[in-house]
Amino acid sequence: MAFSKIELRNFRCFDFLSIDLSFKSTLFYGKNGSGKTSILESIYIASSGRSFRTSNLESLIQKGHEAFSIKAYDDTSGSILEVKKSRTKPINIKINNSKVTISELVRAFPSFSIDSRTFFYNDNAPEYRRKQLDRGLFIASPDYAKDWFGYFRSLKQRNSALKIGDIAQAKAYDPHLVDCGERVNLLRENLIVEVKKIYDGLVNSLAHENKRADIFSDLEIRLKSGFNNNLGLMESLIHTNNVDLRRKTTTAGPHKADVIFESKGSLIKDIFSRGEQKLLSILWSLSQNIYLGRSFNLSPILLLDDLSSELDREMLECFLPTLKYIENRFVFSNIVDLFDSKIKDKKQSFKKFHVEQLK
Ligand SMILES: Nc1ncnc2c1ncn2[C@@H]1O[C@H](COP(=O)(O)OP(=O)(O)OP(=O)(O)O)[C@@H](O)[C@H]1O
Ligand SMILES: [Mg+2]
Repeated sequence: MAFSKIELRNFRCFDFLSIDLSFKSTLFYGKNGSGKTSILESIYIASSGRSFRTSNLESLIQKGHEAFSIKAYDDTSGSILEVKKSRTKPINIKINNSKVTISELVRAFPSFSIDSRTFFYNDNAPEYRRKQLDRGLFIASPDYAKDWFGYFRSLKQRNSALKIGDIAQAKAYDPHLVDCGERVNLLRENLIVEVKKIYDGLVNSLAHENKRADIFSDLEIRLKSGFNNNLGLMESLIHTNNVDLRRKTTTAGPHKADVIFESKGSLIKDIFSRGEQKLLSILWSLSQNIYLGRSFNLSPILLLDDLSSELDREMLECFLPTLKYIENRFVFSNIVDLFDSKIKDKKQSFKKFHVEQLK
């Protein structure tokens, strides 16, 4: 499911706001402090119960009020989602008047955010890239979530045994760890391979329109599994037993995985400029969004705050044709309007709002 309309009450700078989103791209533009991030944040909260900006949901309640509420509607299914947060109670989420858990919400209305941390995806620690990868698979596949939890439960027990130097006990957890871990690794690998195919197609189309997009082609994007692929996980664990005992922790396995982006043998983070890194992250996130939508019967919303920061005019023009290839809802913000106001769009595949005028 995906939102077609969203209503906010007493949320940050908004007393009341009601917006009909496009079924494809929606742009919110306006000056600093006008409320662009707040709108994107409200959509993210409505689809995950969390903010992409702060862990303090109370700070989002408008000054002088006791609670905020977000209502979202899905025209296709007729579902209504309600999120309430008051100063004194935890967040309360209902779909069609029935209370739901965060994991039910995330699967019902998936969303992914490209924010300032995602822009420099390649500069972050491996843990960040693993989290991004896992979040997509978590939402898409309940089997993945089962294996992921199974793997991490066994890993925790194995590490506790290693801490007291009990290698026999540590090894007792290996069969379950390997069973779940191999499946986690396989699904991650498959996701990267499939998203890469979509990414290559997208970049190829963009390069036909703008030479600057050439820089994004011929990249090597692959999963580093976290263990020796030739040996397999079980053999890798045997191989690292002595190191594990010395370090009192498991040093090989999917918990050490990473996603590697390279161009002609060099790491992207070492060669790409900030603007290039940002656009690469956007194109990669978009490709993942298309893949999850196509393969898992989902309609994930993609949120992108502050499109043009760090991008020069040419780089921005390199990105804009991407909007044609979007398959799910894409909601993004920018300081200034990006399109001619005379833009004709009968199918409403593109909508834009000047945020100052919404208040
Ligand atoms: N709890 C709150 N109550 C009232 N106003 C708030 C609250 N929290 C934040 N604001 C205000 O809401 C306004 C909108 O903030 P927001 O971050 O959405 O702006 P923005 O359009 O994204 O700006 P920028 O271009 O600088 O990123 C700001 O002026 C901010 O100070
Ligand atoms: Mg902002």
